[in-house]
Amino acid sequence: MTSDERRFDPQKMRFLIGPERQARWDPPRFLARFDIQPGQSVLDLGSGPGFWSLPLAEMVGPAGIVWALDASPEILEFFAQRQPPPQVRLRHVELPQTELPDASQDWIWAAFVFHEVTPPGQLASEMARVLKDSGKAVILDWRPDAAGSAGPPRPHRLSVEQVTQYMLESGFKSVTQTWQDEDNYLLEAVK
Ligand SMILES: C[S@@+](CC[C@H](N)C(=O)[O-])C[C@H]1O[C@@H](n2cnc3c(N)ncnc32)[C@H](O)[C@@H]1O
Repeated sequence: MTSDERRFDPQKMRFLIGPERQARWDPPRFLARFDIQPGQSVLDLGSGPGFWSLPLAEMVGPAGIVWALDASPEILEFFAQRQPPPQVRLRHVELPQTELPDASQDWIWAAFVFHEVTPPGQLASEMARVLKDSGKAVILDWRPDAAGSAGPPRPHRLSVEQVTQYMLESGFKSVTQTWQDEDNYLLEAVK
């Protein structure tokens, strides 16, 4: 299976910032559980049009940086039209490459993107490369055994066990599942 078959359809990008999703996730409230500080540099992998990047920009403040990386020019253009604050840096990249320096990031966020990138092991290695020592990489994604009908095709999804293995094989010291509901899970990996 190639990366393209798995990739989110840019024609549906408005859904990513729509009211249904806002109500489901309430990003500022969901992100408040993480220790993200003003002035930090954080990485939003597969940012889409900024559903998470914009609240992250509030958390790191004007002295911080949010690298918003996405492979879709259309989605990045749509994000740019939303006029993000200057600490948000939009970059067109093809993951698993991030084109960021070694040990440059305080925190990494991968929401609903890990399962779209091939090969996933290389994405885990890239996360380990760009994260500072003791930094945290957090993965929010779809359960293969989800109860609901929303989300990507089930054969595209990765289990908690699979993602945990990729992260540990890439050198992360620990991987902990800190939340789940009937459709999604959250993994926190410490370098
Ligand atoms: C399901 S959307 C999630 C967007 C965002 N993280 C969110 O939760 O709102 C997945 C995003 O990852 C991007 N993406 C998928 N594969 C990618 C790759 N190989 N490199 C960079 N971005 C990719 C897609 O273009 C899309 O914007």
